[in-house]
Amino acid sequence: GADSEATRRLRADPAGLAEAAGLLSAGRLVAFPTETVYGLGADATDPAAVARIFAAKARPSFNPLIAHLPEGVAARREGAFDRAAEQLAEAFWPGPLTLVVPATAGTSVCDLARAGLPSLALRVPGSPLAQELLRRVGRPVAAPSANRSGRVSPTLPEHVLSDLDGRIAAILDGGPAAVGVESTVVACLGGTPRLLRPGGITREDLRAVLGSAIADAGAVDAGQPIGPGLLASHYAPRARVRLEARRIAPGEAALLFGGVAPEGLAEAAAAFDLSPGADLVEAAAGLFAALRRLDASGAAVIAVGPIPDTGLGEAINDRLRRAAAPR
Ligand code: TXA
Ligand code: MG
Repeated sequence: GADSEATRRLRADPAGLAEAAGLLSAGRLVAFPTETVYGLGADATDPAAVARIFAAKARPSFNPLIAHLPEGVAARREGAFDRAAEQLAEAFWPGPLTLVVPATAGTSVCDLARAGLPSLALRVPGSPLAQELLRRVGRPVAAPSANRSGRVSPTLPEHVLSDLDGRIAAILDGGPAAVGVESTVVACLGGTPRLLRPGGITREDLRAVLGSAIADAGAVDAGQPIGPGLLASHYAPRARVRLEARRIAPGEAALLFGGVAPEGLAEAAAAFDLSPGADLVEAAAGLFAALRRLDASGAAVIAVGPIPDTGLGEAINDRLRRAAAPR
């Protein structure tokens, strides 16, 4: 059963890739690295395989999953691309962008992976290792982040194993994920494209390609929550998270940015500066590992200093707000 299988650790070499692709093709679960975070992969065309993702993550409801493909041509067989989707795919694939588009009539992605929606989330990841794995599988691979539902997303193999060891067939070890926050999700469903989730491609990047500012998601679309997985509480460490902290109380853990040393820092249980040089790319890459490390300090509260809301700062602040939301 899902709780008792030994999880194999596969190396990023031809033998490891062949093994990972074979397991995925046989309907098993394999965690694999993308440039954003580690994904928990299953054959997106096989409903039984996709169901195993929800079981392994203990995901409470059947949120739709992103279907990953090795290149844009394969993605265009699964979804219908309007002009905006074409422009965005052209500019940012392969890379940390997910496009939500109408599913084609002939899509091979099963209903469960799409949570029964007429739309479909597609992504061509930039990681060469992910691309090679996807090429070998030869079918779309459904993959949410490879963490237990509601927990911090994994950017290292150790993170995946701490949440899912014994619940998945294998993990392909590709070292640290470079970007560190999930892909930007943009809906192109006719009309103006809308930003469903900030991520590795910034709002400024999107604007430069679209020629105008991207619209934000409305809360609901035809009665369906737009990013059904975009719940307020998410990415939650065990500790309570306190935002915009300008002073640290004794015993709190401190998550800082830009070399700023708030009052009370000397009495913190643990402290980590995401980027002493105030580089948001570096901060995004280390965010989830830092949350896990500060959580492991045992502090009841992680106090987070202010982080600018520009560039990748928007995705960082989005994840931190969710970590801080009431549970
Ligand atoms: O970087 C990433 O995107 C990672 C890597 C593994 O690719 N994946 C990831 O998947 O973050 P997940 O399942 O944690 O987040 C996917 C988001 C969810 O919030 C889901 O609700 C939304 O995409 N989504 C998927 N299909 C959708 C659809 N048809 N309409 C609206 N939102 C959708
Ligand atoms: Mg996730």
